[in-house]
Parts: sequence; C-alpha cells; structure tokens
Amino acid sequence: MRVKILAIETSCDDTGISILEAKNKGNFDILSNIVSSQIEVHKKYGGVYPMMAKREHQKNLVPVLSKALKEAKLLHLRTKNQNFNFKEIEKILGREPELFKKIIPFLKKYQKPDIDLISVTNGPGLEPCLWVGVNFAKVLSYFWNIPVVPVNHIESHILVNFIKHEILDMKQIFPAVCLVVSGGHTQIILMEKIGKYKILGETRDDAAGECFDKCAKILGLGYPGGPIISKLAADAGLLFCRSPASVKLPRPMILTKDYDFSFSGLKTAVLYADKKIKIKGLKYKKMMAAEVQQAIIDVLIKKTIKALNDFNAKSLILGGGVSANQELRKQFKNRLEKESPNIKFFIPKTDLSTDNALMTAITGFYHKKNKVNPSASSGRFLREIEADGNLRIA
Ligand code: KG4
Ligand code: ZN
Repeated sequence: MRVKILAIETSCDDTGISILEAKNKGNFDILSNIVSSQIEVHKKYGGVYPMMAKREHQKNLVPVLSKALKEAKLLHLRTKNQNFNFKEIEKILGREPELFKKIIPFLKKYQKPDIDLISVTNGPGLEPCLWVGVNFAKVLSYFWNIPVVPVNHIESHILVNFIKHEILDMKQIFPAVCLVVSGGHTQIILMEKIGKYKILGETRDDAAGECFDKCAKILGLGYPGGPIISKLAADAGLLFCRSPASVKLPRPMILTKDYDFSFSGLKTAVLYADKKIKIKGLKYKKMMAAEVQQAIIDVLIKKTIKALNDFNAKSLILGGGVSANQELRKQFKNRLEKESPNIKFFIPKTDLSTDNALMTAITGFYHKKNKVNPSASSGRFLREIEADGNLRIA
C-alpha cells in the first residue's frame, strides 16, 4: 500500500502539519514535518490559555500548510482561474472566521495536492484548539475530496515510535507497556497490538509535565518548565552529588500497589519549601530543579517497571513531551539494562517526543491499514467527526 498522508495537529499550543509517504516495502518517507510553536505568545502568561491558542492556530494553519506542501514538493499554482462556491466551507468554519479568511485565497491559488488521506487529532487536548484542526481537516477534505480520519493524540504519542519500524515483529514487541507523559496526561497503558490498549493507571490530578511547568513557575524559572528544569538540573550535576538537596521533596504514591500517580502534592511541597528560603540564588534553583526532576522520575520509573514486570511485557514504549527529558531517558535505560536486558526500549527522537503532526500521520496510516476508523471524504461521516477534549485511548 502506497499512501501519502497529510496530518494536522492542534491539540495544545503547537500548530503542526506533516506529510508522510508510506511505501510498498513497508517504510516511511517523511516529506515534511512543520511545527509552529506558540511558546513566545504564552510564556508571558506562564501557561496556555485555550482561546488565545485557538486564535494562534487560526493564524498559523494556512502558512504552516503552505510550508509543509512546499517542502514536500506538492504545492502547485492553479493554471487557470476557476469559480468556486465557498458556502459550505463558510458553514464549516462558522466558529473560525479568521481561518476562513485565510484559507479562501489559498484554495483559489493552489491546485489540489497529490494526497490520499488526511489525518487529524480530534482529542484529547484543549477543545477549542482541537476544533480548529478538525474543522480545517473537514474543509480540506470537502474541497479536495480526500478522506479524513480522526486520531487519538495519546495513541499518536505511542505510535510515533514506529516511524522506523513499519514492519513490526508483533511477537517480539507485544505486549508492551507504554508510559505517556505530557503536559496534560500521565498514563501507563498496556498495549496488546496496534489499536488495542488498556489504561493500567494514570494521574489522579496534575500530569507530570504540568508538575514540571507549575514547579518552574513557583521557582520563577519561566515557561515551559520541563526543558528549563531539565537544563538547570543538568547544570546542578556534580554539585547535587556532593551535597544532596537540602530540601527533600516527597515521591507521591510511590509505594501504592496500583499504577496511578499524583503530582499536585509535589507542587505544593515545592511551594512551601520555597516560601521558607530567603536567598534564592542560582545554586538554590539548580538544587531545586534537580530534586523536582528526580522526584518525578523516581515515581514514573517505579510504577512503570512494576507494570512491565506484572504484565510480562516484551517492550517499554515512552512518549509525550516529558519523554524528551534526558535524565528520565538515561535512568530508564540504565534500569532496563541492569534488570531486564531483554526488554526492548522505544523512545522517540526528542523533537518527536513533544507535539508534532508526524505522529498524527503515522497513526492515521495505521488506522487506514487496520481499518480502525471508517473514513469518507464527504457526507454524513465528515459531519460526524467531532473534537473531544477528554477522548480516551481505551
Ligand atoms: O506532549 P507535549 O508536547 O504536549 C502535550 O500533549 O501536553 O508535552 C508538553 C509538556 C510540557 O509540560 C513540557 O514542560 C514538557 O512536556 N516537557 C518536558 C521536557 N520537554 C518538554 N518535561 C521535562 N523535560 C523536558 N526536557
Ligand atoms: Zn502531546
């Protein structure tokens, strides 16, 4: 099966469009993978405001689409003027008027690209943001007459690991235990095969990424917190080894027998500890960053290894923004090498750990291949595709 997929990802604050070609021999060619980050817009406020992010997606989608098609060599000017009726498109984008204004000149100017399938994230995530992507996919699908398939963002964080492994030796990989750790989610998932999942445990309050972000805010470090804390913690290095953190933070739920997490108490502990400190120099910030990071890592590793053992898993699959954390990657690797050298370990490249549309494309491909979702280019099914901020993988 040879198929070109155009994928759209707008579940949070990154506007992503990617074009992926799946080839006959079972390998993929990444034709383009464009991500436009909104960090500059949101960092002034220390977090993402959904309506502001929705506005940014409306602004970014058409330029990102042009760039993605151009890079894939699929952007071609129309050769003659044609008259179109945009009434249906105006209806689809009734709640995204800025996007409507931008897409019309684009559709008039360029030809239908050589694309076989559109795949779009329809949840979970920030619902106003998800709707922009979903409605954009509907417009392209309707106008170009290309089928569209909605995909789950958590599943995409998992399947991006298979970008290099289209022909999977199922017997060697599954069952797998997946740890998806992002700004909105922390879940341990048992994966029996592509498309078959069971959530073993998840956070009862804040997600791991949210905890990084909130702790960084308390410590006055900026947004997003994960990369900043990770850098400061790495700088703490030797300093931390010689004189362990003067503040010892809790490892919430580390001893419970389930696979659940709770990170809001950790953030509160940071808040109280920080209030007691009078002079907050760089050394203090580095120490705290290292201790926050280690507290999060300790719980994530403990619960994930327990799941691996309890379910006799053959592989461990990481995904989500927090899996970009170098120390988390290193400590997982060391533990597996020491305790379970036969377990296969999948981690995405760091730029594929955080949100991108390549992961949406690969998930769309597997849905089509495994016929998970019916897909149609127009009519009832297109109208039925909905964004769902709380969409579950299982
Ligand atoms: O998957 P993602 O890009 O978006 C969501 O689906 O939420 O994850 C974003 C989260 C943020 O909370 C960010 O602070 C965290 O991932 N993150 C990191 C690192 N890079 C991003 N956390 C720890 N260490 C990192 N290097
Ligand atoms: Zn994500």
